[in-house]
Amino acid sequence: MSKNLIIYYSRKGENYVNGSLEMLEKGNTEIAAEFIQKAVGGDMFEAETVVPYSESYNICIEQAKKELNENARPALKEYLSDISQYDNIFVCGPCWWGTFPMAIFSQLERLDFTGKKVIPLMTHEGSGMGGSERDIKNLCKGAAFKKGLAVHGADAARSEKIISQWAKNSI
Ligand SMILES: Cc1cc2nc3c(=O)[nH]c(=O)nc-3n(C[C@H](O)[C@H](O)[C@H](O)COP(=O)(O)O)c2cc1C
Repeated sequence: MSKNLIIYYSRKGENYVNGSLEMLEKGNTEIAAEFIQKAVGGDMFEAETVVPYSESYNICIEQAKKELNENARPALKEYLSDISQYDNIFVCGPCWWGTFPMAIFSQLERLDFTGKKVIPLMTHEGSGMGGSERDIKNLCKGAAFKKGLAVHGADAARSEKIISQWAKNSI
């Protein structure tokens, strides 16, 4: 049986939900990542930065823009170093300025993806997958890529059916 790994980044705190700011106890991507695990099983790995991003949406927006412009690699609390036991790697994150948060890249670029299947999921407020598929293709050398799923962040909790069907069809 093939083995699945779900790598994700998700931010708790203030975020736009259909046009107004709300405090989220659990990030949208974390909800989506849990649906993947429920559908196909596998291990979860949360990329958590040593320095957390601001809970304030507007401050976080600026932090993220600076990191993107600098192509930063924020330090993570923990890293995965070996994914040799896995066949399918789901890579899940929010759209930040059109791509994954740099924290996802901090993790991905340390791994050997030779022979792995990479399956991206992005939650967003309008940009869809943005440029994330192109960006991870550059980082995950040697992998085969499945078509990503873009989930409207505010609808993540209502998207179990579509996420689980996509996850099952992707592995
Ligand atoms: C720093 C930051 C940048 C964002 N940039 C975009 C963007 O470029 N396009 C978009 O559609 N949504 C953008 N969003 C909205 C998030 O992608 C969306 O709310 C997502 O579901 C958040 O996921 P999370 O709760 O797992 O962190 C941004 C949100 C933040 C905090």
